[in-house]
Amino acid sequence: MRQALIAGNWKMNGSLAANAALLTALREQSQSLHCELAVCAPAPYLFQLQSLLAGSSINWGAQDLSVHEAGAYTGEVSASMLQDFACRYVIVGHSERRAMHAETSELVALKAARALSAGLVPIVCVGETLAERESGQTAVVVEQQLSPVLDKLGSQLAGIVIAYEPVWAIGTGKTATPEMAQEVHELIRARLAQCDNAAAAVVRLLYGGSMKPDNARQLLAMPDIDGGLIGGAALKAADFLAIAQAA
Ligand code: 13P
Repeated sequence: MRQALIAGNWKMNGSLAANAALLTALREQSQSLHCELAVCAPAPYLFQLQSLLAGSSINWGAQDLSVHEAGAYTGEVSASMLQDFACRYVIVGHSERRAMHAETSELVALKAARALSAGLVPIVCVGETLAERESGQTAVVVEQQLSPVLDKLGSQLAGIVIAYEPVWAIGTGKTATPEMAQEVHELIRARLAQCDNAAAAVVRLLYGGSMKPDNARQLLAMPDIDGGLIGGAALKAADFLAIAQAA
């Protein structure tokens, strides 16, 4: 049985004051949830997450990490630094990083491996653009993004989370229908099963892309949708908690 995971990706949003209000509200109102809750914040706020969430049921993490262990990599954040702040998760290969920081699927695979070797759970993001969907390329694109990760991780596959985030649904208010999302999730699970049947049964597959309180229940009801990676709605305690309640 896969426990649902509702993870917030704050992206480049937040301030000490706004975060404190949001985290306090989440902490106070998350006791009766049946799913796991996590927040992935900008690196400068990881100390605040640790301070305000330690001892609660909410996990936290980062939005990226370096493939390197340490050294002359200005601006990068290492896995061991994330460990210092007791992160559980780290997002890798978000479409915004693929598009704006030229991250390849091979680099994403290295980042996922780096995270695992430091005891972090990578949330590996995949997803097609609108042009790719409209030209019938969704399955091919997802396969191309996934296969370097599957090859690299081998027997460690059970330790990851995968997020399917169609690029055209991110921040646009356009959500994949539950059936569209399920179709890709099913494909991803089948692909995992080709590598490792046991891992395919336990790896949680999150949907991301304009998931909101009013569409979460239908998406999360699909058999292969095990949670959500939430952008905009994760910045409002009421919306994020409403999504978590739907899980
Ligand atoms: P939105 O929920 O704002 O569409 O963002 C989704 C996302 O990119 C999460 O990683």
